Amino acid sequence: MKVPLLDLAAHHRPLRDQFQEAFDRVLDAEHYILGPEVQALEAEVAARCGVGYGIGVSSGSDALIVALMALGVGPGDEVITSTYTFFATAGAISRLGATPVFVDIEAHSFNLDPQAVIDAIGPRTKAIIPVHLFGRCADMDDIIRAADERGIPVIEDAAQAIGAETPDGRVAGSVGAMTCFSFFPSKSLGGFGDGGMVVSDDEDLADKVRLLRGHGARPKYFHKIVGGNFRLDALQAALLRVKLKHLGTALAGRSAAAQRYRALFGNSSLDAIELPQHVQGHSYALFVIRAQRRDELQKHLSARDIGNAIYYPLPLHEQECFADLGLGAGDLPHAEKAASETLAIPLFPEITEAQQQAVVDACEEFYNS
Ligand SMILES: Cc1ncc(COP(=O)(O)O)c(C=O)c1O
Repeated sequence: MKVPLLDLAAHHRPLRDQFQEAFDRVLDAEHYILGPEVQALEAEVAARCGVGYGIGVSSGSDALIVALMALGVGPGDEVITSTYTFFATAGAISRLGATPVFVDIEAHSFNLDPQAVIDAIGPRTKAIIPVHLFGRCADMDDIIRAADERGIPVIEDAAQAIGAETPDGRVAGSVGAMTCFSFFPSKSLGGFGDGGMVVSDDEDLADKVRLLRGHGARPKYFHKIVGGNFRLDALQAALLRVKLKHLGTALAGRSAAAQRYRALFGNSSLDAIELPQHVQGHSYALFVIRAQRRDELQKHLSARDIGNAIYYPLPLHEQECFADLGLGAGDLPHAEKAASETLAIPLFPEITEAQQQAVVDACEEFYNS
């Protein structure tokens, strides 16, 4: 049985008429960039996060850049973040001329280690970006406490974590000074192209992000500061609003599928595979296992038409473009180990038990042969 890593068609099929309606609405309104659809999405996402403001932007990567710009991050500044994340988290820091300070992860959560963050804080630390990797919230309490004591703002990179919650029930997007979401198509709330959002409960920061999003102009053609074109399209917003209405159901589907994997892998008693730890509030944007002989398992699954992907094969501190930071192999060992062991296996809201059984069977076949 062929099992895709993600089946967007299955998710979109029942929503087709609603997408058409949203598309027609934008066509009739002839307002293609920002405008009422974007404002409505901003209000809906902000409300879901329990914060006052949302600013729709062109991608999750741009959300990070514009959030850092709003804090005035630039040359000479340091921003602490995880070495085990998608490149954009650190790319945004570097593009502004600041220095990413990479810290290691906790082996059990894949998220940055709060003590390592605290140890990395120095006089030039301008911001901290915890990443809620794979849909699990980073352990925020100690980071927020240490940051607050020193007046350092925290930006949540929740690109993979819309709808996730901390174990004590705080929604991703409500904890940091600003939070960045991605609407890249494969995300839990994915659009039909690039898109993203910054949310915040801080009126001044939200206003700054909004200003920066449109070349710093207010009013039009009168530029207070230098920003960029970080705008979100109306069509993306209209289509995303359809999907946002069904996000709760989709997240429940992801959670149920994650639990089903636990039962199915439990029956198989494979000890070569370690499943992601379950915690309250995990949104299972990705279901990432640790596997012995990971690369061979990956080849086997691919040969059996079982979708899979490695997130991520090389931690950021080992990337060529960051060589001048002076870190290398052996420096952040938990992330390096994760990069050599992790594999995402199929998980999406509509995945069937038969599909999941096929994934488990293919893993068993590999390890038992
Ligand atoms: C952790 C993380 N940060 C940032 C981004 C950037 O988002 P986008 O692809 O929308 O630019 C992503 C997307 O893959 C991500 O996973």
